[in-house]
Amino acid sequence: MRFAGKIAVVTGAASGIGKASVLKLAGEGAHVFAADIDEAGGRALAEQSNGKIDFVRCDVTKPADIEALMNVAAAKAGGIDIVFNNAAAGGDRAPIDEITPEGWDRTMDLVLKSVAMGIRYAVPHMKGRKGASIVNTASVAALGAGYSPIAYAVAKAGVLHLSKVAATDLAQYGIRVNAICPGFINTNIFTASLDVPGELKTQANEVIAQMSANAQPVARGGQPEDIANAVAYLASEESSFMTGTHLLVDGGLTIGQRHAWDKETPGMFDALLAMEEAAKAGAAA
Ligand SMILES: NC(=O)c1ccc[n+]([C@@H]2O[C@H](COP(=O)([O-])OP(=O)(O)OC[C@H]3O[C@@H](n4cnc5c(N)ncnc54)[C@H](O)[C@@H]3O)[C@@H](O)[C@H]2O)c1
Repeated sequence: MRFAGKIAVVTGAASGIGKASVLKLAGEGAHVFAADIDEAGGRALAEQSNGKIDFVRCDVTKPADIEALMNVAAAKAGGIDIVFNNAAAGGDRAPIDEITPEGWDRTMDLVLKSVAMGIRYAVPHMKGRKGASIVNTASVAALGAGYSPIAYAVAKAGVLHLSKVAATDLAQYGIRVNAICPGFINTNIFTASLDVPGELKTQANEVIAQMSANAQPVARGGQPEDIANAVAYLASEESSFMTGTHLLVDGGLTIGQRHAWDKETPGMFDALLAMEEAAKAGAAA
């Protein structure tokens, strides 16, 4: 019960990583304000919680919604101890030579500005709370190319840097700020924006689940609970000497080239060695 008596706020709480984190924090004693635009999902979560979880409708692209969310959460017990700025979606999928200014701005608002405003409106309620901790969801897409569309990747890199600079600003108040970079995690995010019938989304989610089991050195798909465990660690006193940094929870996805860990995928040196072997065999014959 690491979070007994703590007040926590989680955005993007109705699904995936946010939902698993709400359940983890509430399961270890926090009272959690679960915020999302998905009212049915958010209310269902709260209804099964024996009063440990309150749902608050909040669109994180609307600063007024975020401010209201933080005010409601703080009113419960005079402040906020833990904030997990997690809500996002894939954003505009266009490449850099096609993206519109509007698509770029929409993605930045949803993925990056939402986190900045989450910090902005939470901090007044976190000052003076012992062990106050803010955790932000970044991504492996913040660390390199090829994991996501470009606007999302740039916005997530912004989340990573925001977490560092906010940590320096907020150290004077004893508020820690860290980020998590999830790898390939089995959630609805990959199909949420697809314009296809529900049964096709279900099929696509099944394909994605199979792909995710083989995407990285750890030979299973990443689960929302893998990230929730990291959230709980960064929210807890166990990480009290960590601020302005990030945890990479990716099953090894970013370690390096696939041939380094997948024997079915030969790399350049395997090809050269095979050539050398063939040449030797030819000479010997
Ligand atoms: N799943 C992955 O592989 C992965 C990898 C790296 C980072 N992430 C990040 O993890 C976070 C959670 O994503 P997930 O994978 O759990 O996806 P998800 O689609 O399962 O959950 C996202 C939740 O955010 C909510 N949401 C979307 N827009 C919102 C808005 N404007 N205001 C409030 N809530 C909103 C959705 O309703 C949904 O409940 C996101 O920041 C995402 O970018 C996910």
